[in-house]
Amino acid sequence: MLIKKTRMKIDVLLGLQWGDEGKGKIVDVLSTRYDVIARFQGGPNAGHSLEFNNIKHVLHTIPSGVFRENTLNLIGNGVVIDPAAFTEEIEALEKLGIDLSMRLLISKKTHLILPTHRILDAASEKAKGKTKIGSTLRGIGPAYMDKTGRNGLRIGDLISGNFEKKYNELKAKHERMLKNLDFEYDISEYEKKWLEGIEVIRKFQLVDGEYMINKWLREGKKILAEGAQGTLLDIEYGTYPYVTSSHTVTAGVCIGLGVAPAKIGNVFGIFKAYITRVGSGPFPTELFDANGEKLQKEGHEYGATTGRPRRCGWLDLPALKYAVMINGVTHLVMTKADVLNNFVSFSAAVKYSVEGGKASDEMPFDMNSNIKPVYRQFDGWGTMNIDTTADKLPQQFADYVKFIENYTGAKIAIVSVGPKRIETIFLDENK
Ligand code: GDP
Ligand code: IMO
Ligand code: MG
Repeated sequence: MLIKKTRMKIDVLLGLQWGDEGKGKIVDVLSTRYDVIARFQGGPNAGHSLEFNNIKHVLHTIPSGVFRENTLNLIGNGVVIDPAAFTEEIEALEKLGIDLSMRLLISKKTHLILPTHRILDAASEKAKGKTKIGSTLRGIGPAYMDKTGRNGLRIGDLISGNFEKKYNELKAKHERMLKNLDFEYDISEYEKKWLEGIEVIRKFQLVDGEYMINKWLREGKKILAEGAQGTLLDIEYGTYPYVTSSHTVTAGVCIGLGVAPAKIGNVFGIFKAYITRVGSGPFPTELFDANGEKLQKEGHEYGATTGRPRRCGWLDLPALKYAVMINGVTHLVMTKADVLNNFVSFSAAVKYSVEGGKASDEMPFDMNSNIKPVYRQFDGWGTMNIDTTADKLPQQFADYVKFIENYTGAKIAIVSVGPKRIETIFLDENK
């Protein structure tokens, strides 16, 4: 059985690259095996796509378990929530007849993204000019800065009685900061939506998430923690400063949900058969040729949140091995294998070489330095699709899988060959 007997443990599913690995799809596929899906970090910067019955859904703050009737969904304390964006998601789901009032819980310790956080995000990006992060402009950085700066507002403050006073004080602080940034803005419309969103949030179950999750574990409920972004965007281990502001790695589950390290069970690490990045920052294997264009076209590589085109490149194995190490991955999941269909040959980086230095398979401190990937070439496999079964994998694909497994030291348990639920191949469930 894929999910080993890890009673009283929480499984983790997260991205091993720069996000958009297909986490939403794989959570959806695995969600029938879990009672609870819990988000532990990030916020509306995420865009998780799920596709079934020929409809594509994109979720941002809400866990990807919402389409399964018997699944509970928790927004954990490590998440930052924007009431206006949250309300838009809830309304879209309501239109589909999905009522989440009994199935979606929000931790009281979850921090709020204020309308002025979004403005501060935009002002900071503008001030950075060419060195901008390429943020999603959802206010993520400023909200986490207020959290660690000990100024933040939390969901629990909504029911504390003097929320309005706290909100106005923090907003005034932001307005003073914005005066110094020479940035024109008007929040009136967004603020109206935001304040309405506060009332929507108040209707949900606002809980002590850390008690809830540990109670569920004691009761033997099966829980999956759903990551957002990816390991290379982690605030500690990503390509700093071109990262997001949260802990996207397995350790973030302990912080973002309140579970002890010993309670971590299986860790599903998701990666594309190649790699993409949206926003600025170093990208050693980025392609600027016809191969890059083909990956972008075949993979429909446009951001699910911002619609920006994603930069595309060959799989970066030193980075993947690093991500496997940092996260303690027990099961690898390869997505978008179908996008490599019909490549006569393709490549993957196995080392980085730096001018005048030795080639290495380790991630350097500064990815911006003059790194050149050392590639290994692989033969293409023709076509893999919904009809491909685990016992009939094309030999060239099986060779690619074996190479990645040997390189990273982790086994590939699942391969995704299309965006739909059913376009999923379970390799060896005992791996
Ligand atoms: P996430 O942020 O990790 O959930 O990923 P996104 O949803 O942002 O981006 C992944 C995109 O690839 C979405 O449009 C998915 O529908 C799509 N997708 C997921 N798995 C596959 C796959 O195996 N093959 C193809 N062709 N598309 C996939
Ligand atoms: P999912 O969960 C891809 C990127 C942004 C930018 C950097 C910082 O869908 O995989 P932020 O708004 O967080 O301050 O932006 O991180 N980024 C993502 N890239 N997928 C995501 O989420 C991302 N969330 C943030 O493009 O480079
Ligand atoms: Mg995404």
